[in-house]
Amino acid sequence: MTPRRLEGTVAIVTGAAGAFGRAITHRLHSEGASVAAWDCNGDGVRQLAETIGDAVLPLEVDITDSAAVDAAAQATRDAFGPITILVNNAGISRAGLPWEDSDESWAEMISINASGSYWCVRAVLGDMREQRYGKIVNIGSLAAQQGRPTTAPSYAASKGAVLGMTVSLARNLGEFGICVNAINPGFIRTEIHDQFTDEEIARLAADIPVHRRGRRGEHGVPDDIAAAVAYLVSPDSDFVSGEFLSVNGGSRTGS
Ligand SMILES: NC(=O)c1ccc[n+]([C@@H]2O[C@H](COP(=O)([O-])OP(=O)(O)OC[C@H]3O[C@@H](n4cnc5c(N)ncnc54)[C@H](O)[C@@H]3O)[C@@H](O)[C@H]2O)c1
Repeated sequence: MTPRRLEGTVAIVTGAAGAFGRAITHRLHSEGASVAAWDCNGDGVRQLAETIGDAVLPLEVDITDSAAVDAAAQATRDAFGPITILVNNAGISRAGLPWEDSDESWAEMISINASGSYWCVRAVLGDMREQRYGKIVNIGSLAAQQGRPTTAPSYAASKGAVLGMTVSLARNLGEFGICVNAINPGFIRTEIHDQFTDEEIARLAADIPVHRRGRRGEHGVPDDIAAAVAYLVSPDSDFVSGEFLSVNGGSRTGS
């Protein structure tokens, strides 16, 4: 049975229309949180909220627009009260080596994955400082730690920024009772890979030592990420900050 560790909390999940975001929203809601489901895909978050109910507030927001982020934080506060949890999950990825990368594609990657995540942090810190309690979980990537086959360096760089931000925030926000951690997923097949070729996906999937259901079973699933997020936003992790939790089926042991 799912524990109910998040009664009375108010959470924001960005990228909530995507695969991880949907799983994270369901999980935090099932543990008792009120959840604001943010995504630039408004239809996606509205559909998600319809399947769950009133404790989920769908908000269409592009996280690269800091004014829109501040407005969405205010709408979340107005609906549920002060924000206690932020899950920075929205992101994009693509294949592409430097000679295939344009100035624009580099800038877009940094703007969404790195800057957008930071605008979201900034928008919620007032609430957390006032309450002297807060949990921030940033979704990084194995790509930032060891690179990934075929994956664009701009993606690894943007997630490297997310990891650097995580440790800096953890160092400086601890005195306000705010814990900041990151989760580094390995390859989990989702919509984010829709622009990758079958061959590129096969290369990404190739070196996962642990399969969920035995050697020939499935790879990781979004619920694996949601379970890790739920731990890091719950009181069970109140003495954990500045850490990176790998959820990758042992991929880091393979290189
Ligand atoms: N799936 C994997 O293998 C994997 C591995 C490592 C890290 N990650 C990271 O996990 C996160 C979620 O990935 P996913 O696999 O669920 O991808 P996904 O494509 O299913 O979901 C990403 C969501 O982010 C939203 N988004 C993109 N740009 C946005 C913007 N500017 N403003 C608001 N929302 C925006 C998209 O609309 C989408 O709903 C991403 O940050 C990704 O980099 C995924």
